[in-house]
Amino acid sequence: MRKKIVAGNWKMNNNKSETTDLIESLKKLTFSSQVRVMISPAFTHLAQAKEMTSESHLEVAAQNMNASKSGAFTGEISASMLQSIGVNLVILGHSERRAYYNDSDLALKGKVTAALNNDMEIIFCFGEQLSDRKSNNHFDVVKSQISAGLFDLNSKAWSKIILAYEPVWAIGTGETATPDQAQEMHAYIRSIIAKKYDHSLADAVSILYGGSVKPANASAIFSQRDVDGGLIGGAALKADDFYAIIQSA
Ligand code: PGA
Repeated sequence: MRKKIVAGNWKMNNNKSETTDLIESLKKLTFSSQVRVMISPAFTHLAQAKEMTSESHLEVAAQNMNASKSGAFTGEISASMLQSIGVNLVILGHSERRAYYNDSDLALKGKVTAALNNDMEIIFCFGEQLSDRKSNNHFDVVKSQISAGLFDLNSKAWSKIILAYEPVWAIGTGETATPDQAQEMHAYIRSIIAKKYDHSLADAVSILYGGSVKPANASAIFSQRDVDGGLIGGAALKADDFYAIIQSA
C-alpha cells in the first residue's frame, strides 16, 4: 500500500525566527505514522530544520538543486552539499522553477540524474498551463514532462521518485482542480507509467496533487483513489492549516 505524503513547499518565505516558530509548532502536533510529512524551507534554513526535526518524524526537503557536482556556478547548491547536512529529499521541476529559472525538461533530466547519483529521493513536479487545458492538451503536456524527465530511468530508480501533479492554473490562485479532474489526471499518469514500465511499478509510485490545497478541500481531493497526498504551498505556512491538511490525508 502506498503511504500518504503531505509536503509543505515554503517557497521564498520565512526568515530564521519564523522558520524556528513554524517548526516548533509543527513538532508539537501528532501525526499518524501512515502519513509522511515533509517541509521544504529555503536553503538558508535547511540545516537548522534538519537539526530541529531530528527527533521528530518531519522530513526536510530542498526546493531545488544544481545538476553539477561542484564548480563555478555562483549561487547554486549541489546534491552533495544537501547530503552533507542530511537532506536526502529534493523538489525538482516546480512550475515556478520551470517558468522563471530555465528549468527545462533537459535541465531537469540532469538534476534528476544528479539527485539519484547521490541516493536522494525526488518530488518531481509537472503540470499544464490553463491554455493547455482549454485546448484539451493537458494529458499530452503532462506526458511529455514526465517522459522527458523520468522515462529514461530504470525500474529500480523509481523507488526514489514521488510525483507531484500541479496544474499551473491552480498554483497560488485559489482555484483548485476538482477532485474528479485530479483523479482523472492521476489515473492517466499511472496508466502511462504502467505502459512504459509495468503495473506494479505504476501502482507503487506516490502521486501528489498540488495547487491551492486548503483544509476545506484537502479531504475531497486526497480521498481520490490515485491521489496519494499533496504538495502544499500557501497553506503550509500556517501550522493549523497544514495540520488540518495532514489530517485529511
Ligand atoms: P499553493 O502552491 O498551495 O500555494 O497553490 C502549491 C505549490 O506551488 O506547490
